[in-house]
Amino acid sequence: MEELETKVIKAYSENKIRNLYKESVKEGLWKSEELLIDKYFKKDSKILDIGCGTGRTTFQLAKKGYNIIGIDIVPVMIESAKELNKEFNARIEFKVMNATYLEFENETFDGAIFSFCGWDQIPKKENRLKALKEIYRVLKYYGHFILTSYSRGGLWPGNWFKIYLLKPLGFNVKEVEYGDIFFKKGGKEIYEGEQFIHFPTLSKVKKQIEEVGFKLVFSDRRNSIAYEDKKLDSGDCTFFVCKKNLEKQSSTF
Ligand SMILES: C[S@@+](CC[C@H](N)C(=O)[O-])C[C@H]1O[C@@H](n2cnc3c(N)ncnc32)[C@H](O)[C@@H]1O
Repeated sequence: MEELETKVIKAYSENKIRNLYKESVKEGLWKSEELLIDKYFKKDSKILDIGCGTGRTTFQLAKKGYNIIGIDIVPVMIESAKELNKEFNARIEFKVMNATYLEFENETFDGAIFSFCGWDQIPKKENRLKALKEIYRVLKYYGHFILTSYSRGGLWPGNWFKIYLLKPLGFNVKEVEYGDIFFKKGGKEIYEGEQFIHFPTLSKVKKQIEEVGFKLVFSDRRNSIAYEDKKLDSGDCTFFVCKKNLEKQSSTF
């Protein structure tokens, strides 16, 4: 396992953070998410919720009638999702699983979602690409995948300086790629340790989506898609709706 992956798991396993995510289940779907789900996921179809956390999106998708499986890399998150599953008498399947190694047969799902920028927490571009390839593999043809990312715009001079100047000079720099950040506070989340996330560029996300064979059918910022309740404080980000294409299949599988 990547060192940064261990960091993500440790941070999400903190008690306060687990409780915060359990609470966030009450918030339900973002308006933007709901609009895109209703538009792109076929009614009553089989959906994979990747990086489901404690099930904020999973329980709502089940309520809408989807046959849904929730997976997350953090055992504590899945444990909490299972507790809520019992409480709600929901009978959803929740599993600990890494998005880069999906334990499903090819073409199992009609749709997939990686909500609230969980994909950005996969360290290194080759691993984020691997996750996209895995999602492409387990989707049926013409299936849709809804991805969110905190894709960055503009230059980050401090980050650039560390990666391209200090690191080659042998300084101890924990950032692995340009766009990596470590933080103690993000929205309502206040960590005892620190959390990791990568901000890719918009063009990099689009390039990776297409490299895998997906067709990008829609992309816009969360706050442009719908007016969201600011009290929820989970930030703006970009949605990418990807379709598994028949015409352009990936050469990797
Ligand atoms: C910001 S949280 C969002 C949780 C949930 N989707 C929600 O909206 O409340 C991101 C989630 O992505 C998960 N995640 C990060 N890397 C992952 C990976 N490689 N495989 C599966 N899940 C991952 C994290 O454990 C975390 O639960």
